[in-house]
Amino acid sequence: MGQIQVNWRKGKVLQGPFGVGKTTLMKTIQNSKRDQTKWISTSQLCNEVRSNGEAVIDQYAKTACLFIDDLGSQSEPTTVTHFGTEINPVHKLIEDRYYYVVHTQHSFPGCQLRMGWNEETKRYDTRHPESFFETYISTNLSFDQLVEKYGGYIVDRLVEMCDFEKMEGNSYRQ
Ligand SMILES: Nc1ncnc2c1ncn2[C@@H]1O[C@H](COP(=O)(O)OP(=O)(O)OP(=O)(O)O)[C@@H](O)[C@H]1O
Ligand SMILES: [Mg+2]
Repeated sequence: MGQIQVNWRKGKVLQGPFGVGKTTLMKTIQNSKRDQTKWISTSQLCNEVRSNGEAVIDQYAKTACLFIDDLGSQSEPTTVTHFGTEINPVHKLIEDRYYYVVHTQHSFPGCQLRMGWNEETKRYDTRHPESFFETYISTNLSFDQLVEKYGGYIVDRLVEMCDFEKMEGNSYRQ
């Protein structure tokens, strides 16, 4: 396995085939965090939204450090229906999270920990707003497949929030 440089100011989209260790690496990153984290697989998110409505998305959207496992997995429906309302949970999660990243990164517990004190300006450094919200994602889909599934609007937001890293090799599963 190659090396992955961790840029702690940005999250990651870990891309690669089955079994190369994407979820395992995300768990390791989560274990290294001291502040607020949440973990959700996209199929689990869809189940939660189907049962309880789109309001459940907000808790994930505004978590300082969010781990989204298995984006685009076969068991992830594009839309779910809750009391007759059709919702696209993954689309809404990314869109809402991006909104928080851009507009409200100071308001949530954990976020302040990510701001460095800038000796020059004597203020907390807010020059890298994307750094206060970290998003880690695992997926079997390529960049083009992500665009095909979610559209450029969503993937362009992921590009701002995350570095894309390819993990290659054979499956560790046996
Ligand atoms: N570096 C490693 N060395 C040995 N075993 C590993 C390593 N990374 C992961 N594994 C093991 O390989 C298996 C698959 O790992 P993991 O679930 O992280 O893969 P994945 O890339 O997320 O796969 P998928 O795309 O199917 O979700 C697990 O049993 C895990 O414990
Ligand atoms: Mg996985």
